[in-house]
This record gives sequence, structure tokens and C-alpha cells, in this order.
Amino acid sequence: MWGSPWRVVGTGSLVRRGSSSTSSRAPEVVLTHERYPVQRLPFSVVSEEDRAAFERMVPGRVIMDPEELEASNVDWLRSMRGCSKVLLRPRTSEEVSHILRYCHERNLAVNTQGGNTGMVGGSVPVFDEIILSTALMNQVISFHDMSGTLVCQAGCVLEELSRHVEERGFVMPLDLGAKGTCHIGGNLATNAGGLRFLRYGSLRGTVLGLEAVLADGTVLNCLMSLRKDNTGYDLKQLFIGSEGTLGVITAVSILCPPKPRAVNVAFLGCPGFAEVLQTFHTCRGMLGEILSAFEFMDATCMQLVGRHLHLASPVQESPFYVLVETSGSRAEHDAEKLSGFLEQLLGSGLVTDGTLATDQRKIKALWALRERITEALSRDGYVYKYDISLPVERLYDLVPDLRARLGPRAKHVVGYGHLGDGNLHLNVTAEAFSAALLGELEPYVYEWTAGQRGSVSAEHGVGFKKRDVLGYSKPPEALHLMRQLKTLLDPKGILNPYKTLPAQA
Ligand code: FAD
Ligand code: MLT
Ligand code: ZN
Repeated sequence: MWGSPWRVVGTGSLVRRGSSSTSSRAPEVVLTHERYPVQRLPFSVVSEEDRAAFERMVPGRVIMDPEELEASNVDWLRSMRGCSKVLLRPRTSEEVSHILRYCHERNLAVNTQGGNTGMVGGSVPVFDEIILSTALMNQVISFHDMSGTLVCQAGCVLEELSRHVEERGFVMPLDLGAKGTCHIGGNLATNAGGLRFLRYGSLRGTVLGLEAVLADGTVLNCLMSLRKDNTGYDLKQLFIGSEGTLGVITAVSILCPPKPRAVNVAFLGCPGFAEVLQTFHTCRGMLGEILSAFEFMDATCMQLVGRHLHLASPVQESPFYVLVETSGSRAEHDAEKLSGFLEQLLGSGLVTDGTLATDQRKIKALWALRERITEALSRDGYVYKYDISLPVERLYDLVPDLRARLGPRAKHVVGYGHLGDGNLHLNVTAEAFSAALLGELEPYVYEWTAGQRGSVSAEHGVGFKKRDVLGYSKPPEALHLMRQLKTLLDPKGILNPYKTLPAQA
């Protein structure tokens, strides 16, 4: 009998387990190749000799037990299922190198897996690819407390790294709801955005270097810790956001900013989306350099976190809610700025109710309302998940449009996200997966997004689910060059096949 299908993620919050628990709440996940039109490519099948060879490379860390494999074959959203028979747990880059050299020679396909919290089906095999887990590559290599440079293995869990650097007066430049489970290597591989993007920007700026193992086993050591380095092409950028298709990231060097001395969070109710936008505008003007996050969620999100997670709204019921975070170095200065801002908002009618948190416990509780929407949605039913970049003034338009289009065929249509980054999370829930409902959503959502010159993947990546829609956001010449790069680095296509690049006709 399996346990609960939920496990702890982040500080005390729950995240759905990527396993097919037989509990009544967790229905079986259909095999990916039965749900989607995809053909297995002619890779070799793992043999007894291969297993013996792996056992020599990573003794005692070759997993073939079906129950253990189950959690790694199913994605977090419980929307994809592979049928891998082998999972390997290397501890070092050398072990990864031996594994890949062997797989390259034998033409065995490999799916790298970090915390398996990805949202686009990139983290689990489509067929029987070998799963290469970074779970045991979890050592901090060094931390330099003058520069704030952290060097660590790729399998370190984000929340553990946060703790490590916070004890030394720094913070990780990224944070996300899956922090208790996702790995820093997975974060780089997906170029994760998250909740601190507005303040610290993309990993493309904060990652100083990385080490990656190429498909043929070559170890590429670009693990620099320099702020400035213009010695030719910036190769690390190729691996950031490449979702395990160009190499396995084995170590990371990342710049951590100093920990802000004063953090405040305001949680506000707004009467309409126009007021949300106006609040953002006012916020940028009045809070300036201390603004560190501006997130929004609609009323349905609040209802769902209430219904499924029993979290109570701290403010009166409103059509929209925003979470504003400030981070600065002088508490009195920030408090003064913030109170002026809140007074102005309440007086102008942009905000109908609000609450302010200055202590850690309340700040966490307010953040939980926003961070745990993903979890509430997954408890609501099957989730159709869209993560799009749009001009901020059009950010919410698609939500009411889809509600009207889908009517009762959808259980809920919700919008939330990183408003400050122009990133909408548009989610539709239904009792179960339905190809007909998917047909109503796609390509409609993508065409709508392309019509606004938006991006069909703002921060979650492409994985399996978005690979055939890249053309909505990238010209054919870019796709061609991406394919050439893939062929150069992985000529046999063994790394994360069926992912990221459009299927070839
Ligand atoms: P996995 O899911 O295991 O893998 C993701 C992809 O990266 C796969 O293609 C995999 O093959 C590849 N990969 C993993 N490790 C490596 C490696 N070492 N080398 C090469 N390739 C690798 N995402 C955001 O961007 N912003 C958010 O705010 C956010 N919030 C989330 C909240 C919740 C509750 C959940 C469940 C997910 C959220 N995500 C978010 C999505 C997800 O957490 C991120 O994409 C995260 O970066 C994935 O990390 P992971 O270690 O779980 O990677
Ligand atoms: C978030 O911002 O909460 C994450 O990207 C996950 C999601 O989109 O649900
Ligand atoms: Zn997000």
C-alpha cells in the first residue's frame, strides 16, 4: 500500500508526489505514448550486460525496483508516464561521464532528472530511457563570503542551498514554490524564473559558471567564478535552459546577493484587473529600488487554496489579489515608503482591503497563499497548464475569454503569476484529461499568445508538452540553428529525446 500522494516541499508546504499512488485520490497515469502521438526512436534496449556495466560504474546505485522507479517515471503533474526500467544515481561528474560514454557507445537514451518538479513533461522518460538522477550529487563545494559566490553540485536542493547561504548573510537569487524538492541543476536546465526574478533577474545573469558532461562523456569544465569573462562564446548559456538535451549539468557556480535586512510583504485586494495594473504602476513609482516582488492571483485561485489547502484569505473577498514584497537595507526607510504607498492606494480606490506583514511567520503565511496555488490546482483535478509571457496590459485578457469559450467543460479557469515580469500562469482544471478539451485549448491559446507577440513558454521551458509549438515564438531559422546545435553536441540524439525540439516530420 502506498502512502499519501503528498510530500513536504518548501517550508512546511505539501507538494504532490510524482508517483502513481494507488490511493483513491490519485488515479493511474496513462502512458505518455498511449496519450500522445509519439514513436519510439531506434535506441538500444537496456540488456543484462548493460545493467552489469552500470553496476560496476555506480555500485549499489542502479535502481531496478519497479516501485522505486514508479516515482521517477511519472511527472509532478501526474500527466505523463514513461516506462524506464533503470535509474542510475551517480555521485560525481566522473561517474556521469562514464555513464554517458557508455550510453553513447551503446546508443542508449538517457533522461536526466533533478527533483522531478518540472511542469512540461521534460523530467520523465517518454519510453524506456535510462533515468540519470542527480539526487546524490548534493555537495556544496565552496562558498566565498566576500563575493557571495556559491559553487555546488547540481543535485543540491534549492531550499538547502538557501539555508546554507542565509546562514552566511546571503540569499539565493531565485526562489520558487518547489524549493523543497527541485535541484539547482534542474533550475539551470529549465532556466527557472520564480518569485525573485523581478529583483535579481534571470539565471542567465546570476550563474557565473557551470560544469556539464556532454553526450559522449566529455567533461566540459566552465565552472568559473568571475563576474567578467569575455573569452569567446559564453558556452554556459547553451546549457542554461537546454532541459537536459545538450548535456548533463553536474556543477554550478552562482552569485548570491546579500540578504536584505528588512523584508515586508503587503497582501492587497483589488476590485478589477485595471486596478491591479494601476497598483503595479504606482508601486514601481513609489517603492522604486526596494520593490522585490509583485505577484497577482484571481479570486478563483483564492477559493481553490481555501477549498483544497484550508488557507484562509487575510483580506476581504476581492476579484483580484496582489502580493507586494519589499526588500531593503534599512527597516525604517522601507516602512516609511511602504506606508506612504499603502495610504495612497487605499485612498485612491485601487485597493479595497489589505494587510501588511513584517515578521517572518506572517510573511511566510502570505507567500503561501500565492506559492501553493499550483498544489491547490493539482488537487482540483487534471490541470492544463499554460505559462505565457504577454504585454502586461493584456496579461489577464485570455482568462475571461477562455472561461466563455469553454463554459462548463472546464471545472475552473484561473489566472495568476509574476505580473511584475509580464508572466501569466493560465490554468484550466477538469475532472480528467480529455483530448477534446485539449483540442479546445490548443492551438487557440498559442495562436492568441503569438497574436500578442508573446512567448508560449515564459519560464517553465518546453519539455515534451510544448515542443511542437515553439514555432509560435521562434522563427524557422532559429529552430534550424537549435537543431544544428543539438546535432553538434549530441549527434546520436541520446540526451532527453522527444523533448524541447519540435518532432521531425
Ligand atoms: P526536473 O523537473 O527534474 O527536470 C526539469 C528538466 O531539466 C528536465 O528536462 C530534465 O531533463 C532537466 N534536468 C534536470 N536536472 C538536470 C541537470 N542536472 N542537467 C541537465 N538537465 C537537467 N518553475 C519556474 O520557473 N518558476 C516557478 O515559480 C515555479 N514554481 C513551481 C512551483 C511548484 C509547486 C512546482 C511543482 C513547480 C514549479 N516550477 C516553477 C517548475 C519547476 O520547479 C522548475 O522547472 C524547476 O527548475 C525544475 O527543477 P527540478 O530539479 O525539479 O528539475
Ligand atoms: C508558479 O509561479 O507558481 C509556478 O510557476 C508554478 C505554476 O505555474 O503553477
Ligand atoms: Zn511561475
